[in-house]
Formats: sequence, C-alpha cells, structure tokens
Amino acid sequence: MSTQTRERRLNVRDLAAMKGSRPIVSLTAYSAPMARALDADTDMILVGDSLGMVLYGMDTTVGVTLDMMVAHGAAVVRATERACVIVDLPFGSYQESPQAAFRSAARVMTETGCSGVKLEGGVEMADTVRFLTARGVPVLGHIGLMPQSVNASGGFRVQGKTDDGARRIRADASAIADSGAFAIVIENTVETLARSLTEELKVPTIGIGASPACDGQILVTEDIVGLGGDFTPRFAKRYAELGDGLSKAIGQYAEDVRARRFPAAEHCFNPPAKGSGAKPRLAAVSSEASGASTAKGRRGA
Ligand code: KIV
Repeated sequence: MSTQTRERRLNVRDLAAMKGSRPIVSLTAYSAPMARALDADTDMILVGDSLGMVLYGMDTTVGVTLDMMVAHGAAVVRATERACVIVDLPFGSYQESPQAAFRSAARVMTETGCSGVKLEGGVEMADTVRFLTARGVPVLGHIGLMPQSVNASGGFRVQGKTDDGARRIRADASAIADSGAFAIVIENTVETLARSLTEELKVPTIGIGASPACDGQILVTEDIVGLGGDFTPRFAKRYAELGDGLSKAIGQYAEDVRARRFPAAEHCFNPPAKGSGAKPRLAAVSSEASGASTAKGRRGA
C-alpha cells in the first residue's frame, strides 16, 4: 500500500475554521481551464451565476438556468483537486419553497460533485437555509447586493447606506448565520457595516465590494485579469490584462492563416516517405480517423 498522502480537497468545515486564523481566498470559475488555473491558490472556487453575464453576455443573472449551473459546476469540479467548490443556485430554482430548494440543491450536488451551494437572500430565506443544512446541504449565504433581485431592487447599488438599509442587512446576516450557513458573502455593502458584521457573526464573511476586515474575499476572476470587457466594477482590482494578450494572439493567427504560414509542416499528418524505415504515426492517424474527442485525441497524441 502506498504511504504517500495526497492533499485532500478543502471542505466547508475547513473554510468555517479559517475565521480568525487566516483570510479565505476565493474566486469564481465557470470552466475547466480557469478552474485548473485557480486550484492551487484559492481556498474556495465559486461557480457563480455571474456566468450568465460574463460567459453568456446576459444583462443580469436572472436568465441563468439550473442546467447551466450543473454543466459548468461539473466542469469545475472535474478540473480541481484542492479548492472547495461551491455552485450558485440560480434564480427561480429555490425561492418558491424549501422543498424546491432541496430538489435543486440535491441535483446540483449529485450531478456536479460540488461541496455546497450558494443562495441569495436574508430573513426571507432563513427557513430554506435551515431546511437545506438540516438535510446535508452546506449553504453559503449571500446578502447585501443580491444580483438576482435587481429587477425588484432597481439596480446594482451600494447597500446599507441608510439606517433602515443597514438594519435590514444586519437582520439578514444574523438570520442566515443562525440558520446554519457555513459562511456568508456580503456584496457591495458599506465598509463599516461589513466590518462590524464580520466582528459580530460566528461564521466567516466573504466580501466582494465590502471590507478588508471580512474573513475572506471573492471576486469574479475575469474582472481581475482583464477578460471582463470594458467595464470593471470599482471593487475589483486588475492584476493582469489577458484580454490584450488574447487579441494579439488571435490577430497573429489570423495573419498566419491569411498568409498561409499556418499550418506548417509540423502541424500536419503525413505518412513517412517510402523507404525511410520510419513507422507511420498510427496513433495520430487512428485517433483522428475514429473522431476521438478527448483533448489528447484532438492533439493527435
Ligand atoms: O455569481 C457570482 O459570481 C457571485 C460572486 C461574485 C459573489 O455571486
């Protein structure tokens, strides 16, 4: 038996235990390549319903479906080994009743293999969070700005600016924490409020446009690497301009194709010259001929 120990995947209890010891590093991913890039450096990867806007070009997250979340969630789980993967429940899949929420969460968890789900809402979602957590579904709460409710709330505005607003967010935070959520995302909320909630709550807070005092931070990955288009939210810091590199690479490919510089000989499959003694590259030929659809097969490996 091997004595080697493999690093195990972080789970929601590991994340909860980070409160007061070290910041929880989290980012979003929707695809296998992005998830692979994040896995070593993040504690939590969120397959956020922001994918509706970032990947699918929607104006809001309201049109995202459970099927979309399941497909992207499964891709992210398959591509990762270390980070705790949480998948968003999309609009319409959980608000109706705790039972509806359980059915959606169970589908997401069984079909993706993720470690838990996130849902938006405060006091009005407390019973649902309690129902889910009592039945083995780890829940990440999400309060402050709740993008799925933009049609009712009137837009992507900073939350908690008025006494009334701050009181509501406070009530939301304690209702969701008391219902068993393992952590709570606080989005686009007045800094001092997010700071004091972090001090008061027993569960970790994960800020996005909230406070450096939060127990963790999360951002949409595309926003910080220059792949999110022209608009960057004020709370996101740009760490790279990958969009520029991408445009440059695609421009070079287009030039190469137009000038017939691509494909070159090394990208083509030719039988060896007769009498050269070299064996034909049967693997490459047969994987192509059989239409092999794995990345390896496509690469002719
Ligand atoms: O959908 C999402 O990506 C999110 C995070 C940005 C918190 O909810």
